Amino acid sequence: MIYSKIAGTGRYLPERILTNADLEKMVDTSDEWIRTRTGIEQRHIADEEQMTSDLCVKAAQNAMDSAGVAADDIDMIFVGTTSPDLIFPNIATIIQHKMGIPACACYAVEAACSGFVYALSAADKFVRTGDAKCVLVIGAEIITKLIDWDDRSTCVLFGDGAGAVVLKPSGEPGILSTHLGADGQYQQLLYYPVGVSNNLAAAGVGDSRIMMSGNDVFKVAVKTLTAVAQEALDANDVDLDELDWLVPHQANLRIIQATAKRLKLPMEKVIQTVQIHGNTSAASIPLAFDVAVRDGRIKRGQLVLFDAFGGGFTWGAVLLRY
Ligand code: UT7
Repeated sequence: MIYSKIAGTGRYLPERILTNADLEKMVDTSDEWIRTRTGIEQRHIADEEQMTSDLCVKAAQNAMDSAGVAADDIDMIFVGTTSPDLIFPNIATIIQHKMGIPACACYAVEAACSGFVYALSAADKFVRTGDAKCVLVIGAEIITKLIDWDDRSTCVLFGDGAGAVVLKPSGEPGILSTHLGADGQYQQLLYYPVGVSNNLAAAGVGDSRIMMSGNDVFKVAVKTLTAVAQEALDANDVDLDELDWLVPHQANLRIIQATAKRLKLPMEKVIQTVQIHGNTSAASIPLAFDVAVRDGRIKRGQLVLFDAFGGGFTWGAVLLRY
């Protein structure tokens, strides 16, 4: 049996940090409101000239170094993002070119905050079937370029960054199962109003911003993150006490706490980076994973569950033996 296994991890966060104190000077908000409602203390913001692909290249190189693979070894690229450099060519081809990776299939996956888990799930299938031998899977966003900095209900939430993994075949268990879902009836609760076939030319960039009914999103997020995490555990006959780590989407500390509580999982087993990264959308899970791998909490052989939820709504879970 061939499994796909994470051979290396990496991340990149833009240098510029925006604190809650900085935001207090920009909109009618307070450090106290942001901390108590979201847990967020700071977030990283890309520079004007930085492209999402630039963040990806740095995170990918970091992951390739940790996996001990070179550009020549990569035979497929998946990128989960909602904030690509261009509408086309797709961001994975841009990264391929920037990194000198030989000709290979390049996928861009748009599933909002679930983008990385969607990408990882698809990449896993290519590795398991033997169609790919060394896949770069990246979750990345410069989501702050979609933000209205005068809208206090959203501008305090988001941050930029990129996380990456290298996926390789292995005889030892790696990714055990992946569980994806989506329900398009919730579009109006979280979306970005400007697209190609609706009103790109008419709207103009200044007219657009992330639209979110935060409270409604919150409730569905907790319910769905719990359900899909449980689905992944049940599918593998894994009891909760066998799970070493939950790496959930980092949107809001209260969502993470409520999900852990519903799952009856102690917070000591939950990786939390929302405090220092904010909500980085598709980048949040690979960023959090890399932080915990590199600081030594997540160790080889441990059982890890990724749990994602985002606009669409989309959701997904991946249970893996690291
Ligand atoms: O990543 C994909 C999915 N996204 C999410 O999962 C986000 C889900 N939602 C959330 O995280 C939370 O709903 C928010 C953090 C967005 C909001 O927290 P909340 O506890 O749901 O607050 P609320 O929207 O009910 O607003 C409460 C109050 C309102 O004032 P009134 O109407 O009670 O007078 C808001 O106007 O807080 C006010 N408010 C703020 N006050 C200070 C909203 N934003 C701010 C702000 N600073 N930045």
